[in-house]
Amino acid sequence: MDKNLIKKIKEKREFSELPDSIVEKVARLAKEDVKVARALLRKYFGVFLTNRVLKGKIFNDEMLTAHMSSRKRDYEKFYEEIFSDVHDVGSIIDFGAGVNGFSYSYLKKRFGNVDYIAVEAVDQLVEHMNDYFKKEDFSANAVCVDLFDVESVFKILKKQKKSRVVFMFQVIDALENLERDFSKKFILGISKECERIVLSLPTESLGGRKKFAVRRKWILDFLVKNFIIKKDFVMNGERGIIIEKKTNS
Ligand SMILES: C[S@@+](CC[C@H](N)C(=O)[O-])C[C@H]1O[C@@H](n2cnc3c(N)ncnc32)[C@H](O)[C@@H]1O
Repeated sequence: MDKNLIKKIKEKREFSELPDSIVEKVARLAKEDVKVARALLRKYFGVFLTNRVLKGKIFNDEMLTAHMSSRKRDYEKFYEEIFSDVHDVGSIIDFGAGVNGFSYSYLKKRFGNVDYIAVEAVDQLVEHMNDYFKKEDFSANAVCVDLFDVESVFKILKKQKKSRVVFMFQVIDALENLERDFSKKFILGISKECERIVLSLPTESLGGRKKFAVRRKWILDFLVKNFIIKKDFVMNGERGIIIEKKTNS
């Protein structure tokens, strides 16, 4: 694809820091139409971000309430559901983290200085999280990586301490929008390198429209078929599913 097209799309400041690989994927979906590509990027990557988040003038966990995906979460309770049966975690790898790194203090309360790494495509968010981690001297790090760059994802994952817990909160739709069925391949692949995956799905769309449940069935069928479902819970407009490998896989 013409590199100038990618450059042109990224002239808009809000997209300037996205990895080229993502912009290229979206440009292809948009049949190389700049306007359509930007509209799709806005829909897939921008809609969750408020100005307060992008500007990054918030230096504490209030950031969590400024981001569309995390704003309704009660992190104390959310992590209690996720970790109630887990006492020993080497590292937490957060794929498509958004601003979730700002919840590190809740993890620290549970596990002390547990290693945390946020993998996120929007570099502004990566920078805000890294500023925060540095300021608080947390054992945490954020990196700007495209989850479709599977090689880099595996490199990152393999470097983390065992036992590894992977978060994929509200990222399935983002992956599926760009490549159908990619999330299945992704989950099967990473499951070989981690002990536990925690997925979440919004129980209603941003616009509050229906036909959502139907669209969800394929992922649930896939998870039930390939994994042990350790827990399946609903909390504050979000469905959390904890999966582990089947012992013979
Ligand atoms: C709906 S938000 C969820 C954020 C966070 N996980 C949460 O639940 O609070 C989806 C996030 O995934 C990120 N994302 C989407 N596609 C991605 C990709 N291909 N690589 C890395 N991050 C991606 C988006 O930038 C966005 O921050």
